[in-house]
Order: sequence, then structure tokens, then C-alpha cells
Amino acid sequence: MSNESLANLLREERRFEPPAQLAADANVTAEAYERAKADRLGFWAEQARRLSWSTEPTETLDWSNPPFAKWFKDGRLNVAYNCVDRHVEAGHGDRVAIHFEGEPGDSRSITYAELRREVAKAANALLELGVRAGDRVAVYMPMIPETVVAMLACARIGAPHSVVFGGFSADALATRVRDADARVVITSDGGYRKGGASALKPAVDEALSRPGTENVRNVVVVRRTGQDVDWTEGRDLWWHDLVERQSEEHTPEAFEAEHPLFILYTSGTTGKPKGILHTSGGYLTQVSYTHHAVFDLKPDTDVFWCTADVGWVTGHSYIVYGPLSNGATQVLYEGTPDSPHKGRWWEVVEKYKVTIFYTAPTAIRAAMKWGDDIPAKFDLSSLRLLGSVGEPINPEAWIWYRQHIGAGRTPVVDTWWQTETGGIMISPLPGVTATKPGSAQVPLPGISATVVDDEAREVPDGAGGYLVLTEPWPSMLRTIWGDDQRYLDTYWSRFENRYFAGDGAKKDDDGDIWLLGRVDDVMLVSGHNISTTEVESALVAHPAVAEAAVVGAADPQTTQAICAFVILRGAAAEELEEGGLVDELRAHVAKQLGPIAKPKRILPVAELPKTRSGKIMRRLLRDVAENRELGDVTTLTDSSVMSLIQQKLPSAG
Ligand code: WT7
Repeated sequence: MSNESLANLLREERRFEPPAQLAADANVTAEAYERAKADRLGFWAEQARRLSWSTEPTETLDWSNPPFAKWFKDGRLNVAYNCVDRHVEAGHGDRVAIHFEGEPGDSRSITYAELRREVAKAANALLELGVRAGDRVAVYMPMIPETVVAMLACARIGAPHSVVFGGFSADALATRVRDADARVVITSDGGYRKGGASALKPAVDEALSRPGTENVRNVVVVRRTGQDVDWTEGRDLWWHDLVERQSEEHTPEAFEAEHPLFILYTSGTTGKPKGILHTSGGYLTQVSYTHHAVFDLKPDTDVFWCTADVGWVTGHSYIVYGPLSNGATQVLYEGTPDSPHKGRWWEVVEKYKVTIFYTAPTAIRAAMKWGDDIPAKFDLSSLRLLGSVGEPINPEAWIWYRQHIGAGRTPVVDTWWQTETGGIMISPLPGVTATKPGSAQVPLPGISATVVDDEAREVPDGAGGYLVLTEPWPSMLRTIWGDDQRYLDTYWSRFENRYFAGDGAKKDDDGDIWLLGRVDDVMLVSGHNISTTEVESALVAHPAVAEAAVVGAADPQTTQAICAFVILRGAAAEELEEGGLVDELRAHVAKQLGPIAKPKRILPVAELPKTRSGKIMRRLLRDVAENRELGDVTTLTDSSVMSLIQQKLPSAG
């Protein structure tokens, strides 16, 4: 990072102290940092005791064969029992676990007692199909309660699930079924998205016609939309036929803490997707603790809503395992934020009086673009805490979120973590930390993270480098499914004894951590490292810009040249036609970050290419900027976006 631009970014001086009442009642106070620092393993052993174990662990961490960790290895527990039954046994059976809201507006609320019965029946159903502890079950579902029930039923019988995002293609599903050697697939006829019924079952049929998927014995199909489905006799079963007739009693078996809980695939930069393996005791300890600490959840009064899809790790950790292990009441929403109208999410917040809301920067920026007047039409006064996850949140988006969703009153917690980390790692604590817009700030109690340079030396405050995790943590991935070598190569070979996260980061003068995007999102311009995130934040801070994506394009003079794709706010687009605006934006970035960060080209576009998890696919924009043929577009939400962008090109300048 050039010193100039670094100094500029770190000039963000807005600070927001925790509200006094929230601080006074907070689940976790500053003292937790001290305790964890004095005795990190003791601290995690204490957090493990928030769970119910059938055999309490006596050993916290076995790190005798690094980086293959064993946490709580002599302990035994059942994850589903911890998420469901124990709350019923503690007298909370009548508490709502899930307020389900379908996209078309159908809704149902499920108590913990009902959830216990549903999970027991589904567990019995899987057993009837011959699924045994250790067998993998693929789950390819929309966002409906049966998805949560299916995951918990797998956990209950010790069958690791592999949830495949419902927006993925038959190809992606086939690859994942094959890699995990799944025995059963749980799916539905379809789900409601963007105002219509979208089918899932045909993709399962197609995936299972591919070689390498022959070990799938059964496909269990939930009826959600009533769409017609093809049927393979002997293989396919309706969920309502199979599950409804099962007994509501099922005695949970205790599994070893290191028993595999799930595999979740994350895309690698090259080659086939990586099956990230998470296990039981350590994973549940950390997602449960972090949900309690970062969201300050009060199970009797809070209504939690994480808008992620369960196909992503955010859904695993902060819809299923974190909130349910803490006995939370939460909202599960099936659809998209703009169906049938752009205020749909805020309508849901109003309807269920949501108190804690967790979403991604991409959604926040979309809401900003749609206009302040939309959330203003709804009563959002129940909200007391907001969270962000998935990519760096630009300071302007952070401020907008706090102002227009949080009424200028709620803390915003920017939580950094990954599929691989399993749970939140770096985040403010809402009752403790004075927050800074745009920074994830500090490792949570019990977590050790820092920023290092190319030679693995810790950088001083005020400098940038690579984010690393310096001590093992309970919810860390245990390996890549079936590929220990790739686990070593990807995460543990860049720096010795350090987990390499793949993210650029820097420390400000207070030692707080700022995430700068993936390492390959750092540009090299005339010998200066400049992060794409930083230039994007500067652009979005201009009133004419709603969204921005920045890439470095090969350039004979400067190694790379900064190329920015921007979505303009309504009126600004017209101004642009009259000239002027592009120059103004370049000057604006130069003023904010220094002349070196001034984009060489700025291209106004209508949409940006994004993955279904909301990450901008800079790789494709680089292809455009370098006039190359486009690479793989199959993980885009909408592949027509790229042709629209390419049409714009001739006039670029
Ligand atoms: C990558 C992990 C964590 C669940 C969703 C994504 C980026 C995540 C933040 C944040 C800046 C963030 C990183 C990370 N990321 N959260 N708060 N600030 N960047 O999980 O798909 O495994 O992606 O998302 O680049 O490495 P994932």
C-alpha cells in the first residue's frame, strides 16, 4: 500500500461508542479479552461448557500434529440435541425457534417443541433409508424449514451433510455429490425466488445421471411449489410420505467431538472446489459463543435474522448452529429482497419485530441504490444491533446502514471470517468496542490474528500486508475433504506455523484491522500496492456513485492500470452524458487517496457481475478491461450482465 493512500484511508475518524444500556446489559464485556489472553485454552474450555456434553472433555486442544487440530477430543456430544432438545428440556418448548416467511407471503412459526418432533422424525426417516453415522447426505434445497430440519436430522445421526446452494447448476451439484460420495440427496420440487417458482428437482435428476454419482440410493423430495417432477421409482421418495409416518421419538447418540459434522464446498482460485470439513464439538463451541458474544443475543426477547442462504457457511453457522444452540427465535426468509417489492426485507423486520439483523455489504449497497425512502416507509424501531459479513464494507455503506436501517442508534458489527474459519474471528463486540466504519477491528476473545509482510514479519501499526491467524481456533476447518495435501498447501505453506487467510489487510494507528479484499485483489501501479477495496470505497463515497468495482488491467507503462466500473445513481447518469462526471470522479479519488490511486478508466455500467454469494467477480472485469475472452461465468447470478458490460466498451475512455 502506498503510504499516501494508507494515510488517507486511516483518516477515517468517525467513532461510535456502544449505547450505554446495551453496554450495561451486554453478554460479554471487556474482561473477556483479559481472561482469554491470560489463558486462551482455559477460555475456550469455559465456552465449551456452554454446551451440553454427554461426556465432558478433559483435553481442550491436541496440537501434537499441526496443522491437524483436535479440539475437546475426549468429549462426546450430540449437536442436534444441543440445538433443539435441551431447550425443550429446559422448559422453552413453547418458544418459537423459526418464524418462516415464504416469498409469496405464506408463513408459519415453529416452536422448539415442534422442531424437536420434526427433527426426530426426519432422523428416523434417514435411518430407515439405511443412512448410518459417517454416511454423507447432500442437501439441495430452498430456504424453507425442512432444510434446517434435514441438516439437524443428519447431525443427530452423525451423518455429515453437504449442503449445495439451491442456485447452483446440475453440474456443480454432480461435482459435489461425487466428491463427497453422498448416499442420499434431500431436495424439493422447487422454491420461490424473484416472484416465481423455480425448480430444483430437475437439476438433481440431471446431476444423478452423471458418472460417479451412482452411490446415491435415494432422493427425498419436499413438496414446496407443487411443480410437476419426474420420478425415478425405487429411488425417489416424497418427504411427506416418508417423514410424516415416523415416530416422534429418537434417542440422540453422543458422538466424539471430532466426528465430522459437515462438508461445505468453497470455490478455489483454480481447479475443483474445496470440500471444507468441519467437526462437532469445537465448531459448535465457537459458533455458539460468537453468536452469543457478537450479537449479544437474549433468547427471551430477541428476534434474530440472518439473511444468508443456508447454502453458505453464514447460513450454517448463523442460521442453524449458532442461533439454535443458543435457543434463539429467528426469522427464516425464503426469497429475494426485492420480491414482490424493494421494501420486502424491511416489511419482514416490521412484521416479526426483528431486533438483530445480519446481512452482507452487497445487499446494503443495493438498498442504498434503491433509495432511502424505501426503508423509511417501515417501522424498524425494533432493531437494536446490525451486522455485516462477506466482504469489506465501505465506510459510506456502513454509515448508511447505521443511519437508515439502524436509525443512527444501533451498533454495526463488521464480522470477518471464512467458510474455513467456521465462525466469526474478527469483529467489534457491540457492548465494548467503539466502532469505526469500514473496519472489522479486533480479533474476538480467544482468537489470535495479525498482519504480516512478505517475510512473515508482523507489520507495525499503520502498515499493511497479509492477514494471518497465529493460533488454532475451535471451529477451524480440519482439512479439505479427501485432500490433506491441498489443506497444507493452501493454508499452511505460505507462512510457517501461520494460517494464511488469503486476504490483504492493514493495521491502523490503534492496531485495528482493516480488511482489503483477497490478495489477488491488490493492484500494482507504478510500484505501489493499491487495494481494489480502497478505490471502490472512495468512489462510493461520491454522491453520484451507487456501486463500484475496481480491477487492475495490465498496462505497459505502469504494470497495472486502475480500471473502475461504476453504477451511477439516477440523475448522475444524465450528467455523465454531458461529460464532466468521469473527470470529476477521477479527481475525487485522487483527492481521497492520492494521485497514484486515480483510475485510468472509469466505465459506467448498469450492473456488476456477482456470484450468488454477492462477491464481485473481478476476474471477469479484468478480462473485459484487458480485452480478453471471458473466463468461466457459470457461478454468476446473471450471466447476461457481462454482455451488457461488454457492449459499453467501445465508448470507454
Ligand atoms: C472471504 C470468505 C464469512 C462468511 C461469508 C463468506 C471476505 C468475509 C468479511 C469482512 C472483509 C470479508 C474475505 C474472506 N470477507 N467477511 N467482514 N470484511 N472481507 O465466506 O465465501 O468463505 O469468503 O470473504 O475475503 O476471506 P467465504
